[in-house]
Amino acid sequence: MTQNTLSHDDIAYQLHSYTNAVQHRTQGPCIMERGQGIYVFDTDGKRYIEGMAGLWSVAVGFSEPRLAQVAARQMECLPFYHTFSHKANVPSIQLAQKLVELSGGRMAQAFFTNSGSEANDSIVKMLWYYNNALGRSAKKKIIARNKAYHGVTVASASLTGLPANHRDFDLPLPRMLHTRCPHYYREALAGESQAQFVERLARELEELILAEGPDSVAAFIGEPVMGAGGVLVPPADYWPKMQAVCRKYDVLVVADEVITGFGRTGHMFASDLYGIEPDFMTLSKQLTSSYQPLAAVLISHKVAEVISSHSGEIGTFGHGYTASGHPVATAVGLENIAIIEDQGLVANAASSGRVLQDALNQLAAHPLVGEVRGVGLIAGVELVADKATKAQFEPLGSVSARVVRQAQDNGLILRNIQDSVAFCPPLIIDAQQVEDMVGIFARSLDQVAASL
Ligand SMILES: Cc1ncc(COP(=O)(O)O)c(C=O)c1O
Repeated sequence: MTQNTLSHDDIAYQLHSYTNAVQHRTQGPCIMERGQGIYVFDTDGKRYIEGMAGLWSVAVGFSEPRLAQVAARQMECLPFYHTFSHKANVPSIQLAQKLVELSGGRMAQAFFTNSGSEANDSIVKMLWYYNNALGRSAKKKIIARNKAYHGVTVASASLTGLPANHRDFDLPLPRMLHTRCPHYYREALAGESQAQFVERLARELEELILAEGPDSVAAFIGEPVMGAGGVLVPPADYWPKMQAVCRKYDVLVVADEVITGFGRTGHMFASDLYGIEPDFMTLSKQLTSSYQPLAAVLISHKVAEVISSHSGEIGTFGHGYTASGHPVATAVGLENIAIIEDQGLVANAASSGRVLQDALNQLAAHPLVGEVRGVGLIAGVELVADKATKAQFEPLGSVSARVVRQAQDNGLILRNIQDSVAFCPPLIIDAQQVEDMVGIFARSLDQVAASL
């Protein structure tokens, strides 16, 4: 099939996620055909560094034979079996056990879904089920943050704090609240220190809980490092302070580690890095390196016990997906984690991550760069129209979009989020490849700066 036919058929038959469908008719798709390590190749044979690991997800790179082999073996052995009504399959049991082990025994059980969105929707339902089980029928509200990203299903999208996920979808649902996000560069008051900023965020959370009534607030959810909101890295003491407020009012803590889980920050989980002791954890993406659709909800002992006994009382835990614990997806997940461990990819994320953060920080003096932020192998570079005043571009995101387009022409895939450019390469990336990636980005930045 020719490239032209494929483009034509794509425009005709496929509604794309996060795409302006009208613009797509003239712009058409960039169609990827194959992958090799950190690179992907389009149907013209052009090579790109995948600086976003696809969608923040392909930890082991785009050509890992062990995952292909394990999927094929599982397909031949048992291609599908479910986890309803006392049934199970071998890989789902083994993966659940492995995830509990990786949590250091803090979490008790895993519940599997197909996507991060469904995992967060499942957590919302579990929170409601849990509080009903405890006879606290009013304790149902959930506090998320502005600029959070928790997915797109009805409850998850409500927790997401980005206008595009609400607008004209009749969201958010009631009972979903949002508080300020921990982005010091944009959210701090004039003259406010990082410590004062964190104190204020904790105070604002407490005031919100008190205004709503502690008896009505079930949980606080956050990504340890915010991804789709622009790669927003919290100040070091943010999480302990927010968590202390939650504990004071018996508000459960949900760590959405869909992006940060499995080594992204140079730690197996970002909860370890920030001292988060979650009641629920959401995992996906690097769980299978996105070779298979899979997510997991990890449930703490305290919550798992209540949920289990309530199902005993009312007769069932009436929740689950056909593909919950899918044997091919969970077999791939197990093997993917084995690869992350065998190849030392968490340590590699820390060492290549230092190279990434250093190289990007060298661009901090660039006239277009307002802030460089990141941890491990995730980073954001925020562009500004005026460094001194931090003025944003008009329209917002227009210049970062040009930089990302230019980088793509130059053979590097990145993502723009408002005025920021996000980096999140595969965890297998080495120091030289990081330098290559940042070199292409710097050249693209200069090309756009020269054209402004
Ligand atoms: C932190 C976080 N949570 C949840 C999701 C939703 O996952 P999915 O796209 O698999 O539904 C994402 C996706 O990017 C995410 O970044």
